[in-house]
Amino acid sequence: MTSEALATSPVAARVDMAELAPYASAAGLARAEAGERAVTLAWDDGYAAEFHYIWLRDHCACPDCRHRQTRERLFRVIDLPAGLPAPGTAVDADGALRLDWPAMPGFAPHTSRFDPGWLRQRADADAPDPLSVDRRTPWDASIADDLPAIDHGAFMHTEAGLADWLRALDRYGFAVLRNGPTAEGEVLRVAERVGWARETNFGRHFDVISKPDPNNAAFTAVALEPHADLPNWQRPPDYQLLYCLANEAEGGESTLTDGLAVAEALRAEDPEAYRVLTELPIDFRFQDESADIAYRAPVIGCDGDGRPVDIRFNNWIRDTVRLPADRVESFYRAYRRLWEMLRDPARSLRFALRPGEMVAFDNLRVLHGRAAFDPDTGFRRLQGAYLDRDLVRSRQRVLERDGGLV
Ligand code: OGA
Ligand code: ZN
Ligand code: ZN
Repeated sequence: MTSEALATSPVAARVDMAELAPYASAAGLARAEAGERAVTLAWDDGYAAEFHYIWLRDHCACPDCRHRQTRERLFRVIDLPAGLPAPGTAVDADGALRLDWPAMPGFAPHTSRFDPGWLRQRADADAPDPLSVDRRTPWDASIADDLPAIDHGAFMHTEAGLADWLRALDRYGFAVLRNGPTAEGEVLRVAERVGWARETNFGRHFDVISKPDPNNAAFTAVALEPHADLPNWQRPPDYQLLYCLANEAEGGESTLTDGLAVAEALRAEDPEAYRVLTELPIDFRFQDESADIAYRAPVIGCDGDGRPVDIRFNNWIRDTVRLPADRVESFYRAYRRLWEMLRDPARSLRFALRPGEMVAFDNLRVLHGRAAFDPDTGFRRLQGAYLDRDLVRSRQRVLERDGGLV
């Protein structure tokens, strides 16, 4: 059962479980069969699951066990005696699971009640969190025909617009906003529609213009190959927002590449190169007068099944390559192969941002770049800011809780 199904259910909760996310469900409890250490519950649609008494005691949501304002756990499982006695077990008149705990050292008799929908949501320990399931849709250059683009006003002022934007970021790892104002600092107002901007050594937001005294390649007019920002941080920003205020110069088109789709392709076409890039950590470093931020990590991060989950590709932030002599050539072969694939026009999107447009992307999935521009032909100014995934996810969960994101 998904939380989406629960959210649309018109059924009222039977027990206050001190949760803001919806859990009421139409399915009721048919039976509770008490065992020695666990109870087996059967719902009236035939679903059955086992819940251990220790788990149930730990999750009692009564006001003594779970704080009514913070909704956080008060109960301390450490206080229970080693041999937890089995409780009296019943499905009560409201259809809730009722457990009557006998007196035990340090505890008076206690009653716990559980909503069947709440238990059902938690019955399958292997069920993925709806937001952490892999919602990625890999893409290539053909996405240009159907760009995930949302109206700035809809994003700022409607839940549906915000939900569309969040969904696009989940699926494609990027979203374009259109028809916004060309107002200084608008990038921060957009960021704050979601959460708090992540501050870095470049500030809470930053101007991307060609500067006389740049401390980063983005602040020049040179071409930027596909890259992730700040791979030299242990925790690079998860999302980047780039808001266009002026784009009159010749050149300066933006590029986006689904780096994880490319990494998957590399894995299929050249497993040895993939292995090298996932196994060999290399150094990344930013240095200016006041900062020296360095981190060592493989170019491609992968999960336990070897699937790519993030990518740190940024040629100018890459520091001295320190590798055993017998790995140097295989590293460069793999790195150049990945780079070729990342800049392949068939795999990337190329477009010109117009003033009042913004692109947001998953910094560790979708690599961004730009063509060189000629500052003598016109003014070009973007403003950038970063967001952390925790806040993006939080926004999604709150919208989902209110029934506004499916
Ligand atoms: C950046 C960047 C791209 C651009 O600021 O991180 O990559 O189009 N800018 O200027
Ligand atoms: Zn309790
Ligand atoms: Zn960048």
